[in-house]
Amino acid sequence: MKKFVYVDASASWLKSQSLIEIESEFLANSYANAGRGICERADKVDRLVAESRRVCADFIGTNEKNIVFTFGTTDAFNRIVNIVKNTFRDKNLVVAVSDLDHHSARLPWMALEKAGGCKTVLIPLDKNFNLDFDNVPVADVFVITAMSNVLGVPQDVARFIKSVRLKNPNAITVVDAAQYVAHEKIDVKKFDCDFLAFSGHKIGADTGVGVMYIKNPDLFMCDKFGGGMVNHVLDDGNLILNKEPEKFEAGTLPLTQIVGLRQAIDDLKKWDGGHDLTNYIYEELSKLGSIKILSPKDASILSFVVQDMHVLDFGALMGAKNICLRVGNMCASWIHKKLGVDGSVRISVGPWNTMEDVRYVVENIKSLVG
Ligand SMILES: Cc1ncc(COP(=O)(O)O)c(C=O)c1O
Repeated sequence: MKKFVYVDASASWLKSQSLIEIESEFLANSYANAGRGICERADKVDRLVAESRRVCADFIGTNEKNIVFTFGTTDAFNRIVNIVKNTFRDKNLVVAVSDLDHHSARLPWMALEKAGGCKTVLIPLDKNFNLDFDNVPVADVFVITAMSNVLGVPQDVARFIKSVRLKNPNAITVVDAAQYVAHEKIDVKKFDCDFLAFSGHKIGADTGVGVMYIKNPDLFMCDKFGGGMVNHVLDDGNLILNKEPEKFEAGTLPLTQIVGLRQAIDDLKKWDGGHDLTNYIYEELSKLGSIKILSPKDASILSFVVQDMHVLDFGALMGAKNICLRVGNMCASWIHKKLGVDGSVRISVGPWNTMEDVRYVVENIKSLVG
């Protein structure tokens, strides 16, 4: 059989046997809706959702009431725009974004700006393409990409937010942890952020589930309405909402995926981060004159461009060798522009990868462009 090497963890993780088993078992033997039934099965589902919420809360250093289940990071970021806008209805917000941002973190604010609801300004990057602590702009909301999906460098989120609060103690800080979560320990108390989001599928859980952390859920208005978030609909149309976090969880939750997320987090804690594998590829590729590595040494993600070859051609040729990596602008067009390239090739390893895998990748790159 042809060897298959998947080095595209930053796009989405392959699923472990333990995840497949736990989700299969839930679907086969335990499935019911949550928060609605009073039978034994429904109680068990409630318990499983509550346990997963507790694991998510412990994982990022917070309490269950601050954990809102979403459908993923993009879902959370679109929701955060509406939550903030519904809460500060009459304020023309200034929103600081940066060139490290993934499209999903910034485009929702740009759409609001187009509709006349806010103004975006740029957080400058320093010479190493990190968020510049010394030149924090004046803004009401800050979008902070904790790790770029191209450069793979963890930002000092706590220090950056400290600089933000020195200028504006009331600023709302929104952290994109979609890549950071797989590689670095998240401590929302240390970060002191108001919102943070990540997707389950980038740490081994299924697609369709994510976490949105809200520091002060009681201070923010809802963005979604429906079953599960309301305790009582009054005759005059007013609503008595459920407590946090349920008031932000209208509609049926992605239950199977939530059950799996707990398992994925437990599995992630056992992963060493694959630094040896990434470093090996870095060392080998840096010997090749035809390759320009964009990410710094020791970054968790390795991105590069190849001289005289379009990244799409490179990706197709690697694909023909059954090597699955990512090419293109990675939904991060701003950082590519800043780096002076249209797109790049990205290699990102996960717990399933071995030294043999990365040797195979390096051999094939060498035989193509070495
Ligand atoms: C840094 C970053 N933010 C946000 C996202 C969006 O995540 P999702 O597609 O799971 O919503 C991604 C996905 O690649 C990402 O890398």
